[in-house]
Amino acid sequence: MKIKIMNIVGARPNFMKIAPIISEMNKHAEFELKLLHTGQHSDDEMSRFFFEDLRIPEPDIYLGIGSGNHGEQTGKIMIEFEKVLIAEKPDLVLVVGDVNSTIACGLVAVKLGVKFAHVEAGLRSFDRTMPEEINRLLTDQISDFLFITEKSAEDNLLKEGISRDKIHFVGNVMIDSLLGNLDRAQNSKIFTDLDLQPREFALLTLHRPSNVDTRENFLEILTALQEIQKEIIVVFPVHPRSKKRLSEFGLNKKLKDMPNFLVQEPLGYLDFLKLMSEAKLVLTDSGGIQEETTVLGIPCLTLRENTERPVTVLQGTNEVIGVNAKRLVTESRKILNGTFKKGKRPDLWDGNAAKRLVDVLVESFKT
Ligand code: UD1
Repeated sequence: MKIKIMNIVGARPNFMKIAPIISEMNKHAEFELKLLHTGQHSDDEMSRFFFEDLRIPEPDIYLGIGSGNHGEQTGKIMIEFEKVLIAEKPDLVLVVGDVNSTIACGLVAVKLGVKFAHVEAGLRSFDRTMPEEINRLLTDQISDFLFITEKSAEDNLLKEGISRDKIHFVGNVMIDSLLGNLDRAQNSKIFTDLDLQPREFALLTLHRPSNVDTRENFLEILTALQEIQKEIIVVFPVHPRSKKRLSEFGLNKKLKDMPNFLVQEPLGYLDFLKLMSEAKLVLTDSGGIQEETTVLGIPCLTLRENTERPVTVLQGTNEVIGVNAKRLVTESRKILNGTFKKGKRPDLWDGNAAKRLVDVLVESFKT
């Protein structure tokens, strides 16, 4: 009898994590794989293009949930996923990251008695106003397998009463994707398209509700960018949430006064990777980008009050600087002047995390 595994994706940051896991699982004839996409993200730029860039197989099941308030989105996923799970009866459900699809599918799986694995477990910002922090905490409480990317995660999980034998330090699967695609990203035409030169631009991403859902905070960041773009071109691929807010808050006209501020549609994986790898600096509120810049050795300023990925600050090239305009300008200038710390690559961020993860599953299903 084959071991049936249902892998789950829902939103953009899930795709680069699931890709190497699927590819590794495919090497094992004892596994039968199903890929389920909740459709939390549905735009081509946020979803389909990533399947193409990362060579992820077409989902076997697509729930088409789309966006909505948290309760609505999470609830809809649960209702639809339960029907699928009852019909498919997998031996294991595997989720990645911390989005609403992660916790929604986890709740359904464990209540139906299906074994449940969480990839990227144990990360904590200790900020419970972040929706992702709630998703992380709850998902970890109900998981049978907790795959962690950094040692701090183990301490967090042990403090929360998770037993040590469920925790597996395998490294960072998202970095498997990065290292595995860096060569392919060299073929990207993004430098020609945007008329850019290596190291002569900054790259900005913003989508956290705490930054873009209040006019005051969004404006604070734009005020800093108005200064920074006088010194270096700033490329800004805009997340749909941020795009909406810019219009709602009447901030688009402010962008027009910034000639060196290049506002773009969301970019595909390979184009973004190419830009990130050759940026002078990266400004972001994303979780994953803090890790990717650490591996690439590119200075990263995180526009948040905290990070759930402390190894990127302790060992990597990341600094968490909050959302104060003055500080943002000062810290950016430091990087432009060449004074920024050098980082090192964290343990097990070596391109082999998915292999270690799948080995754990193979071993556990033997017994
Ligand atoms: C979600 C995740 C976040 C992750 C981010 C990456 C949760 C709680 N948050 O946030 O952790 O970092 O994805 O993008 O799960 N939208 C579109 N098209 C899309 C996707 C979204 O237009 O394909 C718009 C929707 O109208 C929605 C807004 O963007 O109102 C936010 O989408 P949602 O999935 O609710 O959360 P994200 O902010 O993307």
